[in-house]
Amino acid sequence: MSEEIGEILVQADELQHRIKQMADQIAGDYAGKDLLLIGVLKGAFLFLADLMRHLDTGCEVDFMAVASYGSSTESSGVVRILKDLDAPLEGRDVLIVEDIVDSGLTLQYLLRTLQARGPASLEVCALLTKPSRRTVDLPVRYTGFEIPDKFAIGYGLDYAERYRNLPYVAALELSDD
Ligand code: IMP
Ligand code: MG
Repeated sequence: MSEEIGEILVQADELQHRIKQMADQIAGDYAGKDLLLIGVLKGAFLFLADLMRHLDTGCEVDFMAVASYGSSTESSGVVRILKDLDAPLEGRDVLIVEDIVDSGLTLQYLLRTLQARGPASLEVCALLTKPSRRTVDLPVRYTGFEIPDKFAIGYGLDYAERYRNLPYVAALELSDD
């Protein structure tokens, strides 16, 4: 089996343009609030950094790392917390920043877990979504781009920990040879 970078799904300049729009919308919605961004490691780290840079409102940031059991390209919905938040969420306006919503199972678990900690509000901001793969219905308040049912790499997203450094999002191409 060999792998390579396939078709480009979202160009670098399209990413930056849309992320600025998302940041402006979030800044408007959270003006005067106690905004806490939660970056879901590792995939969301570049998106979170660019989103925060454009965010013209006071905010704090924290990180969680989760691993979902399953194969390298499919999640099972059974999620394990590898790194938890540093601070309590009680009374905070929390925005989960995710790289991609695929089946939605990881996010469903995160929403349940974080909701139980008593935030004042809890919303989701995802850079990418694959609507055709969704198995659970989730409220994603901010979405960057809808992509087709292809395994995406780049701009934080990995295949076996590689390709996170690409400045654009591409499809992974696997071939048997
Ligand atoms: P879900 O639980 O099926 O929604 O999958 C969510 C997680 O799986 C994401 O946060 C990613 O870390 C990973 N994932 C899902 N689809 C892709 C993809 O196309 N490329 C890279 N990672 C993905
Ligand atoms: Mg992720």
